[in-house]
Amino acid sequence: HPLIITGKDEMRKWSRQMRSQGKTIGLVPTMGYLHQGHLSLIQEAHNHSNLIVVSIYVNPGQFSPSEDLSTYPSDFHGDMLKLKSVPGGVDAVFCPKNLYDYSNDSGEKQKSENLGSGCASGLVSCVEDKGNGHETWVRVERLEKGLCGKSRPVFFRGVATIVTKLFHIVEPDVAVFGKKDYQQWRIIQRMVRDLDFAIEIVGSEIMRDRDGLAMSSRNVHLSPEEREKALSISRALLKAKSAAKDGRVKCSELKDLAILTITKTGGRIDYAEIVDQDSLEAVTEIKSPVVFCIAAWFGKTLNACMMAEHEG
Ligand code: PAJ
Repeated sequence: HPLIITGKDEMRKWSRQMRSQGKTIGLVPTMGYLHQGHLSLIQEAHNHSNLIVVSIYVNPGQFSPSEDLSTYPSDFHGDMLKLKSVPGGVDAVFCPKNLYDYSNDSGEKQKSENLGSGCASGLVSCVEDKGNGHETWVRVERLEKGLCGKSRPVFFRGVATIVTKLFHIVEPDVAVFGKKDYQQWRIIQRMVRDLDFAIEIVGSEIMRDRDGLAMSSRNVHLSPEEREKALSISRALLKAKSAAKDGRVKCSELKDLAILTITKTGGRIDYAEIVDQDSLEAVTEIKSPVVFCIAAWFGKTLNACMMAEHEG
């Protein structure tokens, strides 16, 4: 316990069997190297369903060839130990080897064509890089453009596509996403509404380490000094939040305040935007519910780490 499933047919079979017994299934999609933030999503999932499936899959579709796919951390054994000890438990762990390898699919007689980088949209992920014939992508056209999508043009296309694939394989009733990745959570919500997935999407609060840094699998890439500097993001957000509470509603002012707090430490800003919570469009003055999203790089090129956080 938990059951470890690697095949997609086996996964679907298990799910259908459980559902036919009247059980509801909650899915928590992850890329592994689990921490307390991931485990808090599992606990949240227990509030919404009978059985819990955690997927662990580092999705090449959301990495561009120049990104950190090969250095993305993993620790299968450690992950299993954590999943065994999580309160309420986990019923199945879905850890597929390659969700873009269709050579064993029944009915898949077509020869995969090498797509190279000649993908029609000009977007290239590590999937096209392998030229395996996969060419269908889910895109949430407006929401995927801003914030993290600006400097990572294939990222949300890859996320929406893999989450769709996981939804079709696991067939959950509920799926839980962290609000830490605010734009990702909103994009999945929109996709599920727009494409009529019969799945409830639950957003779960940010888990932070004791020093205030949002937990992230990528934090292992930070040296102690870089970690100290990365704390400037949450500091900047809190400063802006209290300034806004004091009645400073001009976003340009609030952004300057936050950006300075981060650049002073040597962090390099990827973006700092105050956006409407629903549309994720930038606002100039705080009138409706907004969220301040920041992503910045810390460290030298080799172990640079992009951190993104937000405050409502
Ligand atoms: P990953 O970064 O492993 O995160 C998996 C889930 O954990 C996401 O929903 C994320 O928002 C949530 N999470 C991560 N850190 C958190 C924290 N400190 N507090 C609360 N929740 C946290 O996000 C992905 O993987 C992938 O893009 C995925 C959705 C699995 C698709 O490949």
